[in-house]
Amino acid sequence: MGIKKTVSVLGLGRMGTALANALVEEGYDVTVWNRSDRPAPPNTKRVATTEEAFEADVVVTCLSTYDVQEPLLGKNIKTLVNLTSGTPEQARATARWAQANGVDYVDGVIMAVPQQIGTPQAQILYSGQQEHHVLQAFGEPVYLGEDAGMAALYDLALLGIMWPVFGGYLQAVALLGTEGVTPRQFTPMAVGFLNAMVALLPEMGEEVQRREYETDVSAVDINVAGLRMLADAAAQQGIDTALAETLHDLFRRAQEKGHGAHSIASVVEVIR
Ligand SMILES: NC(=O)c1ccc[n+]([C@@H]2O[C@H](COP(=O)([O-])OP(=O)(O)OC[C@H]3O[C@@H](n4cnc5c(N)ncnc54)[C@H](OP(=O)(O)O)[C@@H]3O)[C@@H](O)[C@H]2O)c1
Repeated sequence: MGIKKTVSVLGLGRMGTALANALVEEGYDVTVWNRSDRPAPPNTKRVATTEEAFEADVVVTCLSTYDVQEPLLGKNIKTLVNLTSGTPEQARATARWAQANGVDYVDGVIMAVPQQIGTPQAQILYSGQQEHHVLQAFGEPVYLGEDAGMAALYDLALLGIMWPVFGGYLQAVALLGTEGVTPRQFTPMAVGFLNAMVALLPEMGEEVQRREYETDVSAVDINVAGLRMLADAAAQQGIDTALAETLHDLFRRAQEKGHGAHSIASVVEVIR
């Protein structure tokens, strides 16, 4: 085995700290930099300036946003592995900056929480240049092609499933809470129901792929009526109605577009 590359981590927040720890665990020589005085992970070398951090073979960034990150980048970086979350356009702009400055560029997103870093549960989606050696220390790298924006697009697409599901769960907890039902009582039922619903996704995906929405399962009409009931019940029980009203509006627009008798998959025609 050859000598491992030296790696710097910029950003010692929750995720950056987990990344630095995983690199040390894998035997990398790790330098860290952080704006404020947070404790450096064991067996890492703390530097005071980003310029010193740029001396490493690979610079991993994990800062809160691109706005924070942009002024910190320097053209002395050799390979930049950017794990700060952003939009596809932000990723592409950074890729253009990297190319103009002779910096190799990998744009990655972490589909995991810090506690999962270094385990196979941590999927690291990445695009741009192909560099998976450092990423392997963090979890399971999945390459999505040369367009540096693709990892960010997948990230937001996947999180865009997670947020409404979590929002819907919290809406359910609040709704039942108005009658004294506790999350502890309700959650096992929610998990069972969600597992059954997730099993329907492949069929829904097929319908979207074929753009064929005939259904003998459940039509948009009946779901518009159901969402109206949910929004009304939320109002009657005195909880926030925003999520239910938004979904009702979306499904209603599909109905208005002529998809009333079609399957739920046809709502995609309104979204796109
Ligand atoms: N946590 C997760 O579960 C998770 C999962 C997937 C992806 N991510 C992504 O990982 C990135 C970091 O998240 P995190 O959870 O580690 O956040 P965090 O704990 O809030 O850490 C934020 C980091 O950004 C730095 N920072 C903020 N403003 C700065 C500024 N103006 N100048 C310089 N540094 C600044 C902070 O430095 P200071 O210590 O000086 O404040 C800190 O190092 C984000 O893009 C996030 O979306 C996080």
